[in-house]
Amino acid sequence: MDEKTLKAIAQQLRKPEGEYATAVGNKMNEGNKIINLQSIEAMDIQDNDEILEIGMGNGFFVKELFNINKTITYSGCDYSEEMVAEAAKLNDNLIKQNKAEFILANGKELPFNDHLFDKILTINTLYFWEDPENYFNEIKRVLKKDGKLTIGIRPRSVMKSYPFVKYGFNMFSKEELITLLTQNKFEIEKVEENMEPDQENEGIKFKVENLIAVAKIIN
Ligand SMILES: C[S@@+](CC[C@H](N)C(=O)[O-])C[C@H]1O[C@@H](n2cnc3c(N)ncnc32)[C@H](O)[C@@H]1O
Repeated sequence: MDEKTLKAIAQQLRKPEGEYATAVGNKMNEGNKIINLQSIEAMDIQDNDEILEIGMGNGFFVKELFNINKTITYSGCDYSEEMVAEAAKLNDNLIKQNKAEFILANGKELPFNDHLFDKILTINTLYFWEDPENYFNEIKRVLKKDGKLTIGIRPRSVMKSYPFVKYGFNMFSKEELITLLTQNKFEIEKVEENMEPDQENEGIKFKVENLIAVAKIIN
């Protein structure tokens, strides 16, 4: 694959836009099914939880949160217009019931009141946060004092073999993720390291793993 294509893939994963956005959203759902399901499982969803997801893509997995507990409410933020529109279309029934909303917003400037959410979820977005401290400050502002943040990523050990990561991906090992959260005044509740089946793209096999951290604000 040439460098121009790799750069375009990296850009689309960071922010799906334009004519390829729908296809990129669908492709992400295929490749990220397990990390999404395992991150949702790790959140420890309780009755009436108010949940925020940052970077939900096309919102394909939102139904899985409601499959765990129908009493929750969900807000999804993404800075891609196309992803917000797709997510709203896919979850039309939940929007009509006032159970879900999808908002065009950057995770760095969340359009919500202080200490609103019981749980915040973000999967495969941390790589793109150039100034993570600002994101974590915003998350701490909108998370309830005893709320929980769940972050799902692919670890550095597998990311580094993906050819597009040189175009703007920050990578983290388990230890680096723990350090990042601790420096930003989060207390780690648990970190899961999960192996996933290999994936194949254009005849090339890729190793796949996920790293899921659940953390609380240090009060
Ligand atoms: C790699 S995709 C992951 C989508 C989905 N969470 C998954 O795991 O399949 C990253 C998504 O997060 C969104 N995103 C990345 N950085 C963001 C930010 N700073 N604020 C809001 N959305 C962001 C992108 O537009 C994209 O839809």
